[in-house]
Formats: sequence, C-alpha cells, structure tokens
Amino acid sequence: MRPLLLALLVAGCGGGGAAVGTPLKDIAVATDVDADPKVVSVRLIAEAGTTEYLDGKPADVWVFRDAAAPAGTVPAPTIVARQGDLIVVTLENRLPVETTIHWHGLRLPIGADGSPTSQPPIQPGETYEYRFPAADVGTFWYHPHLRAHEQIERGLYGALVVLGDGEPQVAKDRTFVLDDVKLEASGKLSTETDLLDLMLGRQGNVLLVNGQRGEGIEVAQGTRERWRFVNAANGRYFNLALAGHSFLVIAWDGGLLPEPYRVDRLLIAPGERYEVLIDFDAPPAAALALQTLHHDRGHDVPDPGPKDVLHVAYGRAGEPAPALPGSWRSLTPTPVPAGTTVRTFTLDELDMPDGPVFFINDRVWPYDEPVMVRQGDLEIWEIDNQAEMDHPFHLHGMFFEVQSIDGQPPAHFGWKDTVNVPMQSKLRFAVRYEPQGMWMFHCHILEHAERGMMGELHVMPP
Ligand code: C2O
Ligand code: CU
Ligand code: CU
Repeated sequence: MRPLLLALLVAGCGGGGAAVGTPLKDIAVATDVDADPKVVSVRLIAEAGTTEYLDGKPADVWVFRDAAAPAGTVPAPTIVARQGDLIVVTLENRLPVETTIHWHGLRLPIGADGSPTSQPPIQPGETYEYRFPAADVGTFWYHPHLRAHEQIERGLYGALVVLGDGEPQVAKDRTFVLDDVKLEASGKLSTETDLLDLMLGRQGNVLLVNGQRGEGIEVAQGTRERWRFVNAANGRYFNLALAGHSFLVIAWDGGLLPEPYRVDRLLIAPGERYEVLIDFDAPPAAALALQTLHHDRGHDVPDPGPKDVLHVAYGRAGEPAPALPGSWRSLTPTPVPAGTTVRTFTLDELDMPDGPVFFINDRVWPYDEPVMVRQGDLEIWEIDNQAEMDHPFHLHGMFFEVQSIDGQPPAHFGWKDTVNVPMQSKLRFAVRYEPQGMWMFHCHILEHAERGMMGELHVMPP
C-alpha cells in the first residue's frame, strides 16, 4: 500500500470541530503484510470481540480482526487495492461456528466467492485463503455467507475499495458503512427476533455509521468531498438527505457512472453501494446532520420521521473545489437484440405460523433447482415482485444493466449487482454470463434470503 492512498482514505479528525461532538473514528485500512506493491495481502481472524455501541456498555460481537491489530472492530478493516492488484486474504476462523467470506460485487473466480455453492464452510480452527484480482474500480464489501442474517448482524462485515487512475479530485474521500443494531438497554445485542424482524429484516433501534452512533465529522468550507456509502444493514433502507446540500451521484455498485446525476435524496437498499460528491458551499445556520428519511417499502410500515445518521460541522475554509471533470467513465449500454431470452423470477411471500417464508418461482432455498445457462450468453432477467414489499435483488459474480421498471427505462445507467425491486413491480435487467461456476442470487434482506428467497445460477462452459 502506498502512503498516498492511505492518506486519501483516512478522513481527518483533527481541526477545531467543537461543533461536531464526538468525532467519528475512521475505520482502519487493513494491513498489507507483503512488500509487493501489486499484491495486497491481508490476514484476518474471525473471532469474538467487544465494542461499545452505547458508551461504557460493551456489547459482545464477532469481528474480522486484522491479525496485525491488537483488537477487532465493527466494521472490519477496509481493504484497499488498486485496480489490477492481486488481493490475497487469509481467514482464520476462531469463531465457535463455521463461516466464509463473500466478496460482494467483485468479479472473481468462483473458488473465491465465499458462498456455500463455491466452497466448503470454514470450520472453527480452520484457515482458508481467498485470492482474486481487483478487476473493477469501485466500492465493494465483504461478509460471511452462512447464516448471514446472524453473522453480519453480530459485526462481521467490512468495506473493500478499489482505486483507479483518474479519480475525481476531492479534498476528502470518506467511506461510510451504514448499519443498524437492535440493542438492549444494557448495550448488548438483543437476542430476540420478532415477527416484524423476519418480515422486514431485523430492524435495529440504533443507527450506526462505521460502527458508531451519533458521531460527527468536520468538513472544510468551500471544499468538495467524496462519500462512499455501503448499506450493510440486514433490512433497513437508508434514504439519505443533507439539508441545503445535494448529492452528485458519481458511482454505484459496479463503479463510476458515465453520466453522474444530482439528487437531494439517495435511497440505498441493503447490499447496495453509492458514491457521491458533495460541495460544502452552504454553511448552515443551524446544526446540520445527514439524515435518513422514511421510504415506503411496503407492509404499511409507519413513518418514524427523519433520523440523524451523522452530524456535519463546517470548519475553516479549505482549498476551493476544482471544476468538475468534463468527462466521466466511458461506458455504453450493452446492445440487447430483439428476441433475447427472458427468464422470469417471481418473488413472493407467504405467512406461516412461525413467520413468513419467501419464494423465488415458488421455490424455497435450499430446495431450489439451479438455473442452467451458458458462459458468454446474454439474457434478460425479469424480476416480478408480487410481494407487498420491496426486495433488493442481488446476483453474485457479475454485473447487470437495468433495462426497465414496469416497462419504463431507468433514469440512469451504470453497472449494478444489487437493485431494489419495488413491491408489485417488474424490473428487467440484461446480464452476460461471464465466469463459469455455481453463483448465487438472492434478496439482500438477509432474513428473506435465509428464509427461502435465494437461488443458484449454474454458468456452464459455452
Ligand atoms: Cu452481499 Cu450473496 O451477498
Ligand atoms: Cu454478493
Ligand atoms: Cu426480500
């Protein structure tokens, strides 16, 4: 790792900043333990640990600890690489249960995917090596793929950032991993799961940014920052707004967009990533906070009102932001010939006495039958969401291009690996089957996936 990159990714927490309250602590960058500048080698240990979501009240969590660090954190260290680097991660499992690491959004060989169809689970006491190239520039994340609703909730997740050449010039490049946790008054993770948790994905009562609650950052007036968001929550939708400021969306799951777009609100479904540029040129009269607003995700979930996610204070003036780049990523939609095969995936749910069950084409994972396709083929998937709620649909190992939502073309174009399919609607995307292997697809509301809404895609040789 080059020191310059490190500096880029570490947000400053010095400065005057009286107004921010407790400054948000940075997530550490994972230690690269080999000297080769083209190889990022990281040693992680999955083990029990503690963290204080509430001050002075430690919670028992599970962590991916950087073997070079004395203690683990939630989230796990951010793995940072440059496009083209080789990433090698050794995971030693010191948990009492089996686990894996899935590299969400990365295009990699099937043996490194970390799903139950790509490797045997890593048993307690065992070590497994993941080895894959950093193929694409963007913001990704990593998490277990066994009992993910439980293992991610307990703290096993981290961001993975791949940097490219010609990134936009910004004063700060910050990564915010968003989550929520359901805490007891003692500060410990609640062990209770109610029917609503099963229906919506476990709903936390405390919002977290980088594993912390209610913290703040200071921004230099007049500067431009790049904020990378990862939604690591089991089931919460974040619908972000920062009063008086807009977000220029420059990237999402599959990297930079050819045409960035400006919004006041940014909806991030579980599993998705977004990157925005923000110009801090509107010092607020009152306290400023990044908030999450209600998103109607179905089942008549009531509006709890805006909730603060992160406090933002203006500090002294910094270097004025340079002009925005005149051109962005050159990326054009894949032509989809008429007559391209359309596969339909119907999402549905059924209430059962011990909670809801979730279906794809009337099948409940693991009693599904793999979808068999040929490498190199381009096909359309129609995700037909007949349920009374939104489902964020995720496909492993490849990117897709959204073609339409209820017949209407999408407003923006870029590569996705996770997309929110609104309730009672049909979303179509085109996907070219690139790497061979048995890949998984599922709803990224983790309770839904574990309760059936998951399937397997077998990409066979051409
Ligand atoms: Cu982040 Cu199979 O998922
Ligand atoms: Cu994934
Ligand atoms: Cu779902």
